[in-house]
Amino acid sequence: MANDRVRFLDTTLRDGEQSAGIGMTADEKLEIARQLSRLRVDIIEAGFAASSPGDFQAVSNIARQVRGPVIASLARAVANDVDQAWEAVKHAESPRIHVFLSSSDIQVLHQLRKNREEVMDMAVSMVTRAKRYCSDVEFSPMDATRTNPEYLFQMLEAVIRAGATTINVADTVGYAIPSAFGALIRDIQRQVAGIDKVTISVHCHNDLGLAVSNSLAAVEAGARQVEGCINGIGERAGNASLEEIIMALDTRKDLFKVDIGVDTTQLYPTSRLVSRITGMSVQANKAVVGENAFRHASGIHQDGVLKDRSTYEVMRPERVGVPGSSLVLGKLSGRAGLQSRLEALGFKLSRDEISKVFESFKLLADKKREVTDRDLEILMDEEKRVAGEPVSYTLDHVQFVGGDHNIATATVRLIGPSGDVLSDACTGNGPVDAVCKAIDRVVGSSGKLVDFNVQAVDEGLDALGTVTVRVEKDGKIYTGRGAATDIIVASAKAYLSAVNRFLAADEASTLPAVGTTPD
Ligand code: KIV
Ligand code: ZN
Repeated sequence: MANDRVRFLDTTLRDGEQSAGIGMTADEKLEIARQLSRLRVDIIEAGFAASSPGDFQAVSNIARQVRGPVIASLARAVANDVDQAWEAVKHAESPRIHVFLSSSDIQVLHQLRKNREEVMDMAVSMVTRAKRYCSDVEFSPMDATRTNPEYLFQMLEAVIRAGATTINVADTVGYAIPSAFGALIRDIQRQVAGIDKVTISVHCHNDLGLAVSNSLAAVEAGARQVEGCINGIGERAGNASLEEIIMALDTRKDLFKVDIGVDTTQLYPTSRLVSRITGMSVQANKAVVGENAFRHASGIHQDGVLKDRSTYEVMRPERVGVPGSSLVLGKLSGRAGLQSRLEALGFKLSRDEISKVFESFKLLADKKREVTDRDLEILMDEEKRVAGEPVSYTLDHVQFVGGDHNIATATVRLIGPSGDVLSDACTGNGPVDAVCKAIDRVVGSSGKLVDFNVQAVDEGLDALGTVTVRVEKDGKIYTGRGAATDIIVASAKAYLSAVNRFLAADEASTLPAVGTTPD
């Protein structure tokens, strides 16, 4: 019989990272994992250890350093993956190995080129192997919603016998419809022997825009673990938005009658952090965490909200951690005002750190009429990133000329690794191209700019712009971000931060590889 506590497995660091165009460093993953632990998700899927040495390291760091949630690594149903998953999570307070294998004929026959019996054997033998390492084993039949139900039930029964403690019904391609998905979960409870001893989990993708609805239908039907990503990021159209499911269960507890262990006030800070680190913006009208989620535009609505917020709000902004902003920050603001605003946004800083940020804040306030919460987040991100940046070159000065009749020319001055001042100039197809090429000349190395994304942080001609770039170097992708009121300066910062990363990776690649276990 299902209990009434729903657990959340956050897979932002694994399925979320499978979003096209995203790459996170091990440090960034650790930062997100720490925030997920503050959010009190139950399980963090920290990565897919066998997929690369970098992912192994990221999972292992999180397992060693993040306390509270269970830490899981994904593994294909092959021996080496299971072994590496265990090596990566074994130091966690509560480790989990998550084994997955296709179960639908479409994938079994056409992708794996195997038959049902062979796949069944692989599933059982790899769950057995995982169980020898770890008492907590999750098994996912991939593409479960397009799998022959009889075969699916047999597979689930077999892996439960082999020791799986969570079985995760994956709607891998976002094919399910809520009523049918709920019925499938009920059928699983009726037809699979041993199901009452394990947790039923669901993992929904959003190809038809139904990932959240399907997850909620599954909870109504008895699922007690839900998987998803912050901001709904993930493969193709993404995964179920964890913040939406959490707030639906919280707001409509009268209907769902389940408990959750999440600190909902950490949802907004978590959403902002994930957006900043991945460079994937959150649409303004996104439920729960979008910029407009608690803004009222029409006169009638404003009138109602001023009298009583519940007239047009089903949840309070404070419940999800959206800070109310009464204080306007600008060039006349003092340290105390800045500190209190930063604290409301979830940044806890020492006296020295405040002094440092205050200097950057004043520089920005000189250029902008009003410094918004988004500006402060960017400022903090810059401060933190620069402090944690692998090395090496910092931007001291950038100057450019351009226009429709001029050849774009940029001059950059960088401070090098040992404090030396280095400058060079270059022409290009446009100012950004010229700036990147001038940086290449100074550092004596170059990458290929494969993606360039500019965003204004808020409205207004004086808005701070953030630039996110992806740079390819030796077959690997490095991301970089920069912010400034001038887009070209922001581009130079972003490009340089990617360059610093690939230079650091070059250095690291001369060291021996760590952490991988031979099969
Ligand atoms: O979508 C999916 O099927 C997955 C599995 C690995 C759980 O992400
Ligand atoms: Zn998935």
